[in-house]
Amino acid sequence: MAELKNDRYLRALLKEPVDVTPVWMMRQAGRYLPEYRATRAQAGDFMALCRNAELACEVTLQPLRRYDLDAAILFSDILTVPDAMGLGLYFEAGEGPRFERPTDTIDAIKKLSIPDPEDDLGYVMRAVSTIRRELNGQVPLIGFSGSPWTLATYMVEGGSSKAFEKIKRMMYAEPAALHMLLDKLADSVVLYLNAQVANGAQSLMIFDSWGGALSHAAYREFSLRYMQKIVDGLTRFADGRKVPVTLFTKGGGLWLEAMAETGCDALGLDWTVDIADARRRVGHKVALQGNMDPSVLYAQPERIAQEVETILAGYGEGSGHVFNLGHGIHQFADPEHAGEFVKSVHELSAKYHK
Ligand code: CP3
Repeated sequence: MAELKNDRYLRALLKEPVDVTPVWMMRQAGRYLPEYRATRAQAGDFMALCRNAELACEVTLQPLRRYDLDAAILFSDILTVPDAMGLGLYFEAGEGPRFERPTDTIDAIKKLSIPDPEDDLGYVMRAVSTIRRELNGQVPLIGFSGSPWTLATYMVEGGSSKAFEKIKRMMYAEPAALHMLLDKLADSVVLYLNAQVANGAQSLMIFDSWGGALSHAAYREFSLRYMQKIVDGLTRFADGRKVPVTLFTKGGGLWLEAMAETGCDALGLDWTVDIADARRRVGHKVALQGNMDPSVLYAQPERIAQEVETILAGYGEGSGHVFNLGHGIHQFADPEHAGEFVKSVHELSAKYHK
């Protein structure tokens, strides 16, 4: 394997010295880029794009051609795992993800089997190894999955949800059923992420996009507990380097201490969190990733740079910060503004790394 030419992202996650703060963007390969829309059209639809290793590799690399990003993220989706469990994932135009066969009863949950990542999710593994090869050591490759709780919300609700009516009913009325589902998902995710590492992923991120919908107690019982199980089961070394693990609970700002206790390397922060406060609370234990509101990209470059400076100053001096947006880049963000954002992070952060 080619030596890494730029390892700032991995170094910052382990709090090793860096020259400037590394930066990447959640959903950096996506619809805001015209070249992404063209490649998706060529593939036919979103899932066809995910299933084609060459085209998935192409869209992964597109943002890296435009911007001086410090990491690449596998182009895929968190919902590939429930799809491989037999739920039948499809995307309804304008309505987001849907499942043909939701798992909203204990009988359906009992029947679920744990996917073999090299077989049932072999197309993801082929994308990982293709991207790693084509990156040729330019920057590290991030692998990812959804958290068990976040995957379960889609599986039980049958798609995206606002009120989480079905899964919350299950959580309080039939907790054993939900625990069985979450446990199967945690086992599936461990196998899936370890296979991503075996195929070339150099860092791992777990997206708990809906953990913030839980109560204080329920977060620990139904989300964090299963992310803990995953962290405990992951391969943490590959190619003679540590494989850092980042946990991101959107809306999880109140629970950073508990998250940092899991033994992960870094926490992703959404924009509701004051990064200075987060560093005081957990910065001795973990690195921090985040956390600019993606909507700032609607503003002019000067305003974007101002916001970047505020966040850099909030984190302060030294390593342990990976700059990112607090959630995915918006579909209608201006690609030029995304470029200004990445440039500002590198230019404005050098003074914090002397
Ligand atoms: O560049 C990257 O970040 C890599 C690829 C990536 C995608 N999805 C591609 C995608 C990643 C890391 C994800 C994670 C993901 N998927 C999450 C966790 C992060 C988050 O946003 O909270 C979640 C909850 C999903 C589930 C999902 N996939 C939804 C809700 C949707 C529809 C939402 C929308 O914006 O329409 C998707 C589809 C999806 N996944 C798209 C992309 C680029 C858009 C689909 C398209 O091109 O039509």
